Amino acid sequence: MSLSNWINERLSIGRVIEDHLTKYYAPKNFNVLYFFGSLAMLVLVNQLITGIWLTMSYEPSAAGAFASVEYIMRDVEYGWLLRYLHSTGASAFFAVVYLHMLRGIMYGSYQKPRELVWLFGMLIYLVLMGEAFMGYLLPWGQMSYWGAQVIISLFGAIPFIGPDLAQWVRGDYLISGITLNRFFALHVIALPIVLLGLIVMHIIALHEVGSNNPLGLDIKKYKDENGKPLDGIAFHPYYTVKDIVGVVVFLFVFCTIVFFFPEMGGFFLEHPNFEVANQLKTPDHIAPVWYFTPFYAILRAVPAIGGSAFPGVMAMGGAIAVLFVLPWLDRSPVRSIKFKGWMSKVWLITFCVCFVILGVLGAIPATPGRTLLSQVCTVLYFAFFILMPFYTRMEKTKPVPERVAG
Ligand code: HEM
Repeated sequence: MSLSNWINERLSIGRVIEDHLTKYYAPKNFNVLYFFGSLAMLVLVNQLITGIWLTMSYEPSAAGAFASVEYIMRDVEYGWLLRYLHSTGASAFFAVVYLHMLRGIMYGSYQKPRELVWLFGMLIYLVLMGEAFMGYLLPWGQMSYWGAQVIISLFGAIPFIGPDLAQWVRGDYLISGITLNRFFALHVIALPIVLLGLIVMHIIALHEVGSNNPLGLDIKKYKDENGKPLDGIAFHPYYTVKDIVGVVVFLFVFCTIVFFFPEMGGFFLEHPNFEVANQLKTPDHIAPVWYFTPFYAILRAVPAIGGSAFPGVMAMGGAIAVLFVLPWLDRSPVRSIKFKGWMSKVWLITFCVCFVILGVLGAIPATPGRTLLSQVCTVLYFAFFILMPFYTRMEKTKPVPERVAG
C-alpha cells in the first residue's frame, strides 16, 4: 500500500484537495480584482514568517523595546529586511484587503447566498485593525506612544464605563510597559490565531456556496451531465496558475517599496517614530498610519458635545459597523454593478471618492476648511449606505445574461 493511500484511508487529504482545488469549480470570468484574495493570503504568510523572526530579537519592555528595534535594524543579520518586510507588509495587507472589499462591493458578492462570507470578511477586517494598532505600539517610538494614547483615550469618551474601560485596556493609569506587554501578547499570539481561524471560516463559507464573478451570475444553474458547471473551470490548475501572475506583479511592486521606499515618505513608517517614546513631549501632529486615516477623519469631523468626543467615536464606530449590514441594505435584484442602474454607480463612485478624500484629510492637520470638507464627505459616506435600500429598489436595472459569454 502506498503512503498516500495509507494516509488517505485515515485522513482524507485527497478529498480536501479535490473539494477546494481540483474539483472546486470557479467561474471562468474572474478578472484582475479576483487576485486580491490570494494576495491577502500571501501577505498573511509574509507577516507570520517575518513576525516570528522579529520576535526572536525584539524585547517587549518599555526600557528595551525601542533599542531592540534599533538593534534589529543595525546588528541582526538581515534584520532591516525582516523589519521592512513586516512594516511594508502591514500597509500591503490593508491595500490588498481594501481592493478585495471594493471588488466585493462592486460585484455584490455580499448578496445572498454569500452573506456569511462577507460577515467573516468583516470580522477579519476588525481583527486586522486591532492587530495593526497593537503592532504599531511595539517599536515604542513617539508615534507609537501618542497614537495609542489618542485611540485608547477614545474609550474614555464612552459615558459611564469609559474611564474604567480605558484604564482596563491600558492596564495602568497611563500607557506603560504593562500596556506594551499585553499588546505584544495579543499581537503575536492571540489575534493571529483568531485571524487564521476566521480566514479558514471565510474560505469554507465561500466554497460552500461557490464564488461570485464580475457578472454576478450563478454558475451552478447550468451543469453538464457530470454535474460540472458549464461556466466553471477547476480552481487548480487554472486559477492557481493565473494567481501566480498576480503574485509576480505584486512582489515586483512590494519589493520595490521594501528596498527603495520602506518609509514611503512617512506614510508607512512615520517620522516621529524614529524617536523613542517620551511621555513628556507630544508630537506636533498626531496622525494614524494611512489605512486608519479615513476613520480618523470621520472622528474629527463630528463636533464634540459638552467637551465629550463621544459623538465622534460613535460616528467612527458606525462607519465600520455599517459595513457589516451591507448585505441587507442592498435590495437590488441584480448583483453586479454592471447591471445596476445609474444611481448605484454614482453612489459607489461618490463613496470611493469620499473614502479617499477622508483618508487624505485624516493624515494632515485640521483647518476649518478641511473640517468642513470632512463633514461633507462623512455625510456622503453614510448616505451611500443609508439610502441604499431606496436607490437599489427604485432604479431600473439592465438585463442580466444567462451565461458567461465566450
Ligand atoms: C486576511 C484577509 C482576507 C483573506 C486572506 C481573504 C481571502 C479570500 C479568498 C482567498 C477569497 C477567494 C478568492 C477571491 O475571491 O479573491 C475571498 C473571497 C471573498 N472575500 Fe475575502 N479575504 C480576506 C478579507 C476579506 C474582507 C475584509 C472582506 C470583506 C469584508 C472579504 C470579503 C470577501 C468576499 C465577499 C469574497 C467572495 C468574493 C466573490 O466570490 O466574488 N474578505 N477572500
